[in-house]
Amino acid sequence: MRTTVGIIGAGPAGLLLARLLNRAGIDSVVLESRDRAYVEQRQRAGILEQGTVDVLRAAGAGERMDREGLRHDGIELRHDRTRHRVDFPALTGGRSVTVYAQTEVCKDLIALQLKEGGPLFFEAEALAVEDPDGDSPRIRYRHQGRESVLHCDYVVGCDGFWGVARRAIPEELTRTFERAYPFAWLGILADVPPSHDELVYARHDRGFALLSMRSPSVSRLYLQVPDGTDAEEWSDDAVWAELAQRFETDDDWRLERGPITQKSVTPMRSWVHEPMRHGRLFLAGDAAHIVPPAGAKGLNLAVGDVVTFARALTHRRDTGSEELLDAYSPTCLRRVWQAERFSYDMTTMLHRAPDATPFDDRIQRARLARLASSRAAETELAQAYTGFPLD
Ligand code: APR
Ligand code: PHB
Repeated sequence: MRTTVGIIGAGPAGLLLARLLNRAGIDSVVLESRDRAYVEQRQRAGILEQGTVDVLRAAGAGERMDREGLRHDGIELRHDRTRHRVDFPALTGGRSVTVYAQTEVCKDLIALQLKEGGPLFFEAEALAVEDPDGDSPRIRYRHQGRESVLHCDYVVGCDGFWGVARRAIPEELTRTFERAYPFAWLGILADVPPSHDELVYARHDRGFALLSMRSPSVSRLYLQVPDGTDAEEWSDDAVWAELAQRFETDDDWRLERGPITQKSVTPMRSWVHEPMRHGRLFLAGDAAHIVPPAGAKGLNLAVGDVVTFARALTHRRDTGSEELLDAYSPTCLRRVWQAERFSYDMTTMLHRAPDATPFDDRIQRARLARLASSRAAETELAQAYTGFPLD
């Protein structure tokens, strides 16, 4: 088989890239190792930056998002029983975010791809990318028990943190940057209306907590737990009791409880792989960078990468110029590092490290107090949260 762009992975990065290329008249083939049901059910974050919403709409993939997504004009920061709202539009000249789960984005893009796009193969596992710096790189893959080769003009590794694509880049040409955190998030889905109409990020001496949502009747909540925690160690009652403590305020706000339908633990890391390109192999999304989830940036970064690649390849086709393809890695990395910085700031401001000293606690409180009293500090948070420009 032969194609212009071989895409490994059908997460949000691979699926959106296939859609963008299809709209630009460039053919592609997507290989995904998991089955469709798995990809459509995997729980991930659910905050779309304004720029991500605009891209999905322009790609003709925004219809259900526009109907079911919830526009959010702010978040609440909580600490020491006090609450402070950050008003996004007022601080950013009208920008906001949209709550629409990543799983729903994937479902929409899969349906469109199968109806209008090029081939998308599930249970097709890429084994290796060969000859990435030659004129015609290849993806060796296994599908329905048979090994085959996909010949490509370009390969884009959208295969996540555990993928194989980046292994094709010689190690001596790469550098990775990493920070592991000594805590994780226990996430739950619960059949109960969210107890607040916007997200609540809470710092507490017992650890961080986050109130989020999937719909007006489904809540998504997270608790900071020690690294290596097994979700089954936590009974439903213990989860609700801990959440209630960490969100407690001095006013009459109450946490509503309901049946928990899912529980899982997410580890936390910051990680960047440089460069994001080698010859005709490009990396996008989690294959090249991971952020801790407190900034809600993972999906939005993946969108930025594939938009940059689709633009660059369209430019190459229309003008013959390699200029934008050559600029791919530095262009993406500028935005990636801003998101890394913001995600790191949010993480370290809100989580309690096991070895935190009284000095660290005071600094966290001072950072939160600064946000509550300085428009400049709040503006910085609002700009970063609603998203860095795509250019
Ligand atoms: N062959 C084919 N597919 C593969 C292979 C392989 N060898 N290895 C991994 N994959 C698939 C995975 O099964 C997964 O569906 O690649 C896909 C990668 O998708 P994601 O992990 O969702 O990564 P990405 O599309 O970059 O999306 C980034 O996901 O992790 C979240 O927070 C992150 O929201 C962000 C988003
Ligand atoms: C989520 O809804 O899953 C979510 C929201 C905000 C975050 C992380 C996760 O920062």
